[in-house]
Amino acid sequence: MTDLDRAHALLTDRLDTTDEIRAAFAAHPRHQYVPDVIWPGAVGAALDRADDPDGWAASVYADDYVTTQTDDGAAGPVNIPTSSSSAPQLMADMLRAAEIEPGMRVVEIGTGTGWNAAILASLVGPTGSVTSVEIDPDVAAHARGRLTGTDVEVVTGTAPGGSEVFDALIATCAVRRVPLAWVELVGRDARLVVPWAPYPEGGPTPVVALRRTGPATAVGPLVRDASFMRDRRQRGARQRFPGTGEEATEQTVFPEGSRDLLRNDRLTRLVLTCPELYIAVGGRPWAGGAAPVVALGEGDDWTHIWPNGSATGNGTRALTAFTKAYTMWEEAGWPGLNSLTLEVDARSGAHTLRSCLGMWKHPVQAHASPTGRTALPTQRRTGS
Ligand SMILES: C[S@@+](CC[C@H](N)C(=O)[O-])C[C@H]1O[C@@H](n2cnc3c(N)ncnc32)[C@H](O)[C@@H]1O
Repeated sequence: MTDLDRAHALLTDRLDTTDEIRAAFAAHPRHQYVPDVIWPGAVGAALDRADDPDGWAASVYADDYVTTQTDDGAAGPVNIPTSSSSAPQLMADMLRAAEIEPGMRVVEIGTGTGWNAAILASLVGPTGSVTSVEIDPDVAAHARGRLTGTDVEVVTGTAPGGSEVFDALIATCAVRRVPLAWVELVGRDARLVVPWAPYPEGGPTPVVALRRTGPATAVGPLVRDASFMRDRRQRGARQRFPGTGEEATEQTVFPEGSRDLLRNDRLTRLVLTCPELYIAVGGRPWAGGAAPVVALGEGDDWTHIWPNGSATGNGTRALTAFTKAYTMWEEAGWPGLNSLTLEVDARSGAHTLRSCLGMWKHPVQAHASPTGRTALPTQRRTGS
């Protein structure tokens, strides 16, 4: 039988973070928050702790996210995660980006298991407060039970209610547009740490560390890559694969294979700086295989980039635009995600990215979803 307390101590030791954040993790063993039933894979059955305690412990202490609810509480052929315990290092990085200090009043959007809220409560200490909001009543009830004995207030819904102004907001679900209501929840100059993905569901959702700058505005750098589930109010269609089932008439070679693009966050930088393209990633949904394919679409023009770098499609428009962005990053030596700063005007909905390489506006409806099969979840694990 796995020694859970030891596994938790090892997890805490492995975190690359501050002493304060490590101590807060140490105070809250993950196994006290993760429910007994989890979904270890993108497909396949749920795992019940009672049936397989060691398998359950292995998932809980694998340094990764743990899916704790699928399909909004239903069961489907594919385990689409709708609640989870985020990956520990991702949580630590977001807590650090939020600059949480003792005495702060913090609001979390997305309570999930309650683990992050408990850690937040330790960080703000007895003079601070944590309010955590969860849209799913069953998930909120579970978290409330696990948070007994802490000072965290769990609110079922999408907003804390009342008129409290918070010192920081951490969202653990991704938005296409940062809601005005979130900006208005925090004081001037306060941090909002938010996973952001200005395109249909399924792609990367990098985390941005915004600071409120005005009544409806916030600005800040991207701090790391991630792959969060979406805010349930901002769900769109799931990613579709441009060109699925169609014959390729063009074949060429791209400088990198799809696996390499995914491995080093390059795809995230490319997706964000090609707002005119429809970019999807996934296993080969039409062939049932696991190799990740990057699919580009612009109107009817599409290209698939394969693991070995071969690029097949029916035209050159999408690939030309993607290659232009790739060359721009390559020539600049691939500056990190944090070279990109997001400017949000939550009233108009304008989201603008800037870096020394250029400026990219992300319109609310950048492009229509192409026809094609829905993308399968990817093998990309960046930890929501
Ligand atoms: C990645 S999980 C949360 C992880 C959590 N912080 C933890 O420590 O376990 C995201 C959660 O956000 C919730 N959620 C999605 N949209 C929401 C919204 N608009 N308001 C509040 N919660 C939301 C989901 O139900 C899900 O439980």
